[in-house]
Amino acid sequence: MALVPLLVPRAGGGAADAAPAPTAWSIAHPLLAPGGLPIGTHTTVLRLADGSLLLHSPGALSPADVAEISALGDVSVIFVPNREHTLFAAAARAAFPRAEVHAPASLAASAKLGGPVRAHAAAGSGAQRPFGEGLFALTVEGAPRLDETVLVHAASGMLVTADLVFHLVDLPPSFGASLLRWVGSAGFFGPTGLAKLAFFSDKAAVRRSVEQLLELPFDGVGVCHGSPLLGGAKPALQQAFASFPAPK
Ligand SMILES: [Fe+2]
Repeated sequence: MALVPLLVPRAGGGAADAAPAPTAWSIAHPLLAPGGLPIGTHTTVLRLADGSLLLHSPGALSPADVAEISALGDVSVIFVPNREHTLFAAAARAAFPRAEVHAPASLAASAKLGGPVRAHAAAGSGAQRPFGEGLFALTVEGAPRLDETVLVHAASGMLVTADLVFHLVDLPPSFGASLLRWVGSAGFFGPTGLAKLAFFSDKAAVRRSVEQLLELPFDGVGVCHGSPLLGGAKPALQQAFASFPAPK
């Protein structure tokens, strides 16, 4: 079973309570970054208010993955979260041809997405709800080279991100894992050293987006690179960006 439910324990929930039906799932895929770094990636599947499904940052989906997702419902949205996570978008489009592809505005004309796309909202627009009730989309300010839009899914209590934060804390020992820790990309929850250098060109603006995110309803974080955080997400996110200058 490749699909793993993302379940955030709710306050007040006791052992006698029935487990809630999952509304969010994750599929882990092996993936090597340039240099052989074992960052892996995850496809996240979210149930929308109309019952259909959104695929966040699809990875290399096997026929078995496609069958498992299809058994959950119709995929109506393929969500390309940023300029970096485009590798498997065209294949996902081929697997789910009825889905609408949403992608950063700066990629709207890119041939690598395999067809027309709907553009994410511009950075600075705050939280939007382009997919109906219960799912917020916020384009992070201060990072135009990444141009990432993150999602907050109220039903599951998950914030879903691609490269805003990594959470590579359970890598099997290897040279690549050591290198990832050495370059500041593994061993913690938060923005990587590379993202701080290459993507977050206006850190005060990034922090303003993080503070807007903290107003939204979540307590877990689904990441593309590493393990999901299933609880305590807001203090962890606040701490992760505490060194970024406060927005004016
Ligand atoms: Fe990434």
